[in-house]
Amino acid sequence: MADGFSLHDALSGPGHPNRQGYPGQWGNQPGAPGYPGGPHHGPHPGHGPPGPYPGPGGYPGHPGGPGAYPPPPHGQPSAPGGYPGASPYSTPGGTLALPYELPLVGGVMPRMMITILGSVKPHADRFALNFERGHDVAFHFNPRFNENGRRVIVCNTKTDNNWGKEERHMAFPFEFGKPFKIQVLVEPDHFKVAVNDAHLLQYNHRMRHLREIGKLGISGDINLNSASHAMI
Ligand code: GAL
Repeated sequence: MADGFSLHDALSGPGHPNRQGYPGQWGNQPGAPGYPGGPHHGPHPGHGPPGPYPGPGGYPGHPGGPGAYPPPPHGQPSAPGGYPGASPYSTPGGTLALPYELPLVGGVMPRMMITILGSVKPHADRFALNFERGHDVAFHFNPRFNENGRRVIVCNTKTDNNWGKEERHMAFPFEFGKPFKIQVLVEPDHFKVAVNDAHLLQYNHRMRHLREIGKLGISGDINLNSASHAMI
């Protein structure tokens, strides 16, 4: 890792949201632009060459199969760092009821990382993460499992009820019935998304008022185990 830093270092303290036992490394992007240089230093935007992803290792630490996450105790917050009041209703299966809203009090800011643990439903069509600013959606992350027979991740921004230009990604790490971890790291110029510890995509900020992005909405064809945020 560049500078010996790994998210595992940043997240391995007590109470971090990784209690499902994922290795915390986002381990395949040495020298990525804007990647924090170390857990005790400020961010270093622009440092490091834009190294090619992915490195060796593919999706390290991806757990075996469905049901690999113990559900949170009934009525407990989704994860340390989550807000107890966000959505106290768990389903009979122990997952969080959807649509789920994770409050992001004070908005988002560089070095904030949002972690979502869940699993894809067996016959999923789509799901979405929506970073919301009032009624607008600053960042819509929308994996679609069958768009005319193809799997695609659509990213976009919605302003005054109008969707902007879609950014489409064919790299698609989600599988029917399989658990996943999504990490969204807020950086000064973009959201950076990793799935199962492998970098997936970046989405440049179109809405610059990061501190007004006060909510993450999660919906669609997944079982949601936890949603939480932390500063790294
Ligand atoms: C639309 C879809 C929305 C959203 C949008 C993104 O076609 O209805 O839910 O995904 O695309 O551009």
